[in-house]
Amino acid sequence: MLVFAHRGASGYAPENTLKAMELAMQLGAAAVELDVHRVEDELVVFHDRRLEGKSNGHGLIHQKTLAELATLSVKGEPIPTLWQVLELLGGRCIVNIELKGIGTAEPMVALYHKAISELGYRPEQLLMSSFDHPQLAAFKAAVPDARIAPLLGSLPLDGAAIARQMQAYSLHLDVSFISQQIVDDAHSTGVKVYVYTVDDADDIRALAAMGVDGVFANYPDKATAALTLP
Ligand code: G3P
Ligand code: CA
Repeated sequence: MLVFAHRGASGYAPENTLKAMELAMQLGAAAVELDVHRVEDELVVFHDRRLEGKSNGHGLIHQKTLAELATLSVKGEPIPTLWQVLELLGGRCIVNIELKGIGTAEPMVALYHKAISELGYRPEQLLMSSFDHPQLAAFKAAVPDARIAPLLGSLPLDGAAIARQMQAYSLHLDVSFISQQIVDDAHSTGVKVYVYTVDDADDIRALAAMGVDGVFANYPDKATAALTLP
């Protein structure tokens, strides 16, 4: 089972920061997840639409300039660009990039190609996900071979059908409504199932027993230990 360090090793370091990403690598994570919004023509790594709550800034992130964001911090750590994170990780792991904000698909297309050509990422190391399925479809139309994953945050009528229709690599589901039927339906169409956000050892073992292919965990080392220790 693949363990994604959710927003980096966010149980130990400020989420979605370079510190959280580097710590995920030090803990041996095979994959990281992060969230991106568009600011000017760049993608920046941050979870919320609004800055207050998770940073010392205020207002909508997509209305800021990069210069304004550079003056802000998340618990003392800078808000990184996606490119800075990709440089830091340097192709050492799988990176799941969640397209959060409006207009993220277009700059993601350029960054996808640049990460492969300049940083040595293999295409299978880059996985784009989103709750915004039109945004994800726009990315896939521009990069047909790329791996994409629709995110579903409520009970899907047919998650496997959505994933198949989008030619998705994986289906990303909230742990609160996972079922054996959903896992089996996805697998029957060749789609992997990754589940968020799971930190309880018993929950992780139960998901593994259901055949779930991966989990997003804030403590990736503990999640890995839950799978390997008796
Ligand atoms: O990608 C899985 C998970 O991160 C989706 O929810 O709110 O943590 O971005 P959220
Ligand atoms: Ca996310």
